[in-house]
Parts: sequence; structure tokens; C-alpha cells
Amino acid sequence: MNDLINIAIDGPAGAGKSTIAKLIAKRLGIIYIDTGAMYRAVAFKCLNRNVSLDARDAILHLLRNTDIRIQFEYNEQKLFLDGENISDNIRSDDVSNAASCIAKLPEVRNKLVDIQRDIAGERSVVMDGRDIGTYVLPNADVKIFLTASINERAKRRHREYVALNSKKTLEDVIEEIKRRDYNDSTRQFAPLKIAEDAVLVDSSGKDIDQVVEEILGIIDNRLSID
Ligand code: DC
Repeated sequence: MNDLINIAIDGPAGAGKSTIAKLIAKRLGIIYIDTGAMYRAVAFKCLNRNVSLDARDAILHLLRNTDIRIQFEYNEQKLFLDGENISDNIRSDDVSNAASCIAKLPEVRNKLVDIQRDIAGERSVVMDGRDIGTYVLPNADVKIFLTASINERAKRRHREYVALNSKKTLEDVIEEIKRRDYNDSTRQFAPLKIAEDAVLVDSSGKDIDQVVEEILGIIDNRLSID
């Protein structure tokens, strides 16, 4: 018997999972694990090595020779790929799209899921991703499915692009989000879907603080019942 707390937050791209999950972890005084960063790290290595995203065997070969580790600095996740901290190099569009492709491969998922389960077995975590409540941590104490309308998600992403001087239009971003949603929810192995025992939270029209308070309320409720 242990007294670790595992909180799963799943949902589609752009629903605000990482911002919200980070704040919730801080409020609870536990660590936040961004599992998407691990898929991004594998994708980043494929892109750097010019491994085609269709070349399954080459990706699996590369995967066998890849070391992915997570460390924490001041409770913040740092991702090490083959010993190098690449946390700040994996947020580009190219990496986002490539991550969505390589995340379809069961072998990639298995390797990363093992790391995720190991961490959650040792520490209390708020873990965000696509399959945390359904597959990675089926016994999580609390499962949240955080979503928002496509338009709202696209508007948020578009604002980020504008801040980076990107010329992308809102329509481009809507198409990009639809494509990633499609990839993430139609893959055969561990697709994005709401776990039966998850609580659905829609962040459309709400600010960050409202969503954080709503989820903290759900967590409080669930933990006091058990
Ligand atoms: O959350 P994100 O945008 O950083 O995730 C990058 C990609 O990785 C996304 O397209 C879906 C995939 N992913 C996944 O399949 N399972 C997870 N637990 C986390 C991310």
C-alpha cells in the first residue's frame, strides 16, 4: 500500500492541458509530467537524423538506440535525449506534426509508457497526455478529460503563432488541429478517448484560473470520497 497520488489529464491538442496541469501540480505540491514531450523527443531525433516518418523499421532501429530520461529542476521537467537536455528544442511545428506520426507506433508507445509508469510508481504526479487515464495509469486516483471547441483551441494556438511572428492564418491552424485530432483519435493503439471514469471539463470561454479551480474542486471531491 502506498500513498502516492496519480492524476491523469488527457485531451486534444490546444485544450490547455500543459498550462493547467502544471498549475495544478504546483498547487498540490507534486510533480508534473508532460508525456507529449517524450513523443516529441523521439520525433525530434527522427527529424535530426533524416529518418523518414514512414520508415517504420528505421524508426524502430533508432528507438532501440535512444535514451530518454526525465529529470526535475526546481520541480520542472527537463527532458534528456541521449544525455542532452532538449526541452527547449521540441516545440516547433515540424516536431509537433512528426510526433503525431510516430505516436502511432506501438513500439514507440510501449517504450515511453514504461518510463511514464515507472515515474508514477515512485512519485505523486499530475501527468498529461492522450492515453493516461485509459492506458498508462488506468488506476489513477483522478482522471480529467480537458477539452475545448476546435475554434477556441485554434484561436489560442493562433495567438501563440502571432506572438512568434508566424504568418499562419486562423484557417491554417484550424486545419492543423483537425489533422492532429484525427491522427490522435483514430490510431489503433491507445487512441485519444475519454476514459469511462474520467470527468469531462470543457475550457471553452473560461480563463485559466477558472479551469484550475474547477479541476482542483474535482480532485478534492474525488480524494475525499476514497
Ligand atoms: O501534447 P503534445 O502536443 O505535446 O503531444 C505531441 C504528440 O504526441 C501529439 O500529437 C500526440 C502524441 N501523444 C500521444 O500520443 N500520447 C501521449 N500520452 C502524449 C502525446
